[in-house]
Amino acid sequence: MAQRRLPHFIFEYVDSGAEEERTLATNRHAFDQWRFVPDALIDCEQRDLRQPLLGDISASPLIVVLTGYNSMQRNRADIKLAHAAEEMGIPFTLSTVVNSTIEDVSRATPKERIWLQLYAMQDRAITDNLLARAKDCGCDTIVVTVDAVHYGNREWDRRCYRDGMALNWRNKFDALTHPH
Ligand SMILES: Cc1cc2nc3c(=O)[nH]c(=O)nc-3n(C[C@H](O)[C@H](O)[C@H](O)COP(=O)(O)O)c2cc1C
Repeated sequence: MAQRRLPHFIFEYVDSGAEEERTLATNRHAFDQWRFVPDALIDCEQRDLRQPLLGDISASPLIVVLTGYNSMQRNRADIKLAHAAEEMGIPFTLSTVVNSTIEDVSRATPKERIWLQLYAMQDRAITDNLLARAKDCGCDTIVVTVDAVHYGNREWDRRCYRDGMALNWRNKFDALTHPH
């Protein structure tokens, strides 16, 4: 369904990994090892998934993790994700690279606990500005990304982009055929 709905370069952005995609495969494999282990013969009348999470209580031990450019997949996706997190009572993490401002997201979800992901930019003024705006929006937690010193070698980029972030003609045409 996603493949039908999305332009190819966006689908690959979400679906693919870097190089031979070994890390992606290893992550999948690691998650496959996890199981729910049901307890038996215990009182389960009162079930409670609440967890303390960085200074506040979360309704369950989950967060909506940061992913950039969400709105390439669906219009105003960050606001929709924040709404979903608000309903679930769990934190929502807003990426540095988004299509909705932190002000818009916090206005749309006044009860939501918003975390901000931060790329420490070489230009400190950008970082300072982002932090000040996050504070004004009531954001209490900063998620600092430390593993983005080099951009991963996503080989599929070469199929989609002509140069840097400029799409090649095939993908521009493909985007035109997905006007929604
Ligand atoms: C489509 C996509 C977009 C992402 N965007 C960002 C981003 O903007 N900033 C960032 O720090 N990490 C980003 N990430 C990394 C995720 O946050 C990371 O995969 C997540 O924290 C899970 O951690 P793991 O991949 O180490 O298991 C992105 C991941 C994906 C799949």
